[in-house]
Amino acid sequence: MRNIRQHVNPLGLYYQQPRAQPARAPERLSGAPVEVELGCADAKFSFDFARARPDCFVVGLEIREAWVERNQQRAAREELDNLHFGYVNMNVDLDRVFAPKSVDRFHILFPDPWFKARHQKRRVVELPLLETLTRQLKAGGEIHYASDIFELTMHAMAEFEDPSARALGLHNIVEPWSFARENPVPHTSRREDTTHERGQRVWRVRYRKSAEV
Ligand SMILES: C[S@@+](CC[C@H](N)C(=O)[O-])C[C@H]1O[C@@H](n2cnc3c(N)ncnc32)[C@H](O)[C@@H]1O
Repeated sequence: MRNIRQHVNPLGLYYQQPRAQPARAPERLSGAPVEVELGCADAKFSFDFARARPDCFVVGLEIREAWVERNQQRAAREELDNLHFGYVNMNVDLDRVFAPKSVDRFHILFPDPWFKARHQKRRVVELPLLETLTRQLKAGGEIHYASDIFELTMHAMAEFEDPSARALGLHNIVEPWSFARENPVPHTSRREDTTHERGQRVWRVRYRKSAEV
């Protein structure tokens, strides 16, 4: 099997050009819950989810197109009609993938390989992303974030807790500035499994969009 590049630079010119395509559920799943993994890589989480919940439309999005292609082929081989894969640079063209108020939950799992201070400008969880996600969430929908890197989780939490994000109607499901103990679903990503195998901690936060917004 062909090797897939470890990283691409999301700030590179090629990845700044919007080209993500809409994710369309099959007709039998019209109106079904929509669960989205952002930055899915091999998509272990999305595959497990889709197999366990044929009543949900599960979408895995990834900037590395080789993973998108490989995952699409595997989903077809496994005849998972409720599992869709697509390209996205989540900081550039996620708006093209979903209609407003159409997604039940976004999962941002172990998102940032760029954790050094000099790579700070490459962190994915920033206010513009939260604005996009909130627009696309249904009322009462959720953003689930997990990482093995404490500092990155604190950075993400600071973005979620910023008054501008709160003004979007996002609130911590536990209480302000709190980690969540529970994974909202009984599935884990490849990186979460590795983190547990190494005896390391998973830092998790969960934010819900107010029902009134
Ligand atoms: C550390 S991996 C984690 C993969 C998987 N979620 C897991 O937990 O095993 C982070 C993934 O996010 C992808 N990624 C990074 N920046 C992205 C962006 N701006 N848009 C979409 N995907 C991105 C990377 O290519 C990589 O596959």
